[in-house]
Amino acid sequence: MGAAWYRTYTEANHGYGFVADDVPELSIAVVASRRHGGIGRRLLIELIEASVAQGYRAMSLSVAENNPARGLYESTGFVPVEKHGRSWTMVRSAARSNRATR
Ligand SMILES: CC(C)(COP(=O)(O)OP(=O)(O)OC[C@H]1O[C@@H](n2cnc3c(N)ncnc32)[C@H](O)[C@@H]1OP(=O)(O)O)[C@@H](O)C(=O)NCCC(=O)NCCS
Repeated sequence: MGAAWYRTYTEANHGYGFVADDVPELSIAVVASRRHGGIGRRLLIELIEASVAQGYRAMSLSVAENNPARGLYESTGFVPVEKHGRSWTMVRSAARSNRATR
């Protein structure tokens, strides 16, 4: 129904939402027929909690400026930090984990 993961990249080889070697970047998608049912939020919260448990100081992602998924990210604590073309890089600090995932 969907998939989500995070992984780290390097300065020399990275995706659109890269901010630092020690900050993993999120990828997430839910099959179109099952969107808006809460699956994406559950996957995202599980990954946030896993990244905090693994000791990562933050997590990043890249989202198109017109993608409504921005609302999902903001509601779980991601904040926009940089704009590249028509996409925002967003970062969520682990320090705010308890507040934003409940
Ligand atoms: C982004 C995505 C993973 C969210 O998964 P989901 O299962 O639909 O998400 P949920 O049902 O858990 O949450 C929906 C929330 O996401 C936001 N959202 C995502 N897509 C939305 C849309 N098309 N319209 C309105 N809100 C949307 C809303 O904030 C909504 O919050 P709410 O439930 O409080 O209203 C899914 O829409 C998707 O796969 N989209 C296409 C791929 C993509 O854009 N991936 C992210 C790239 S950064």
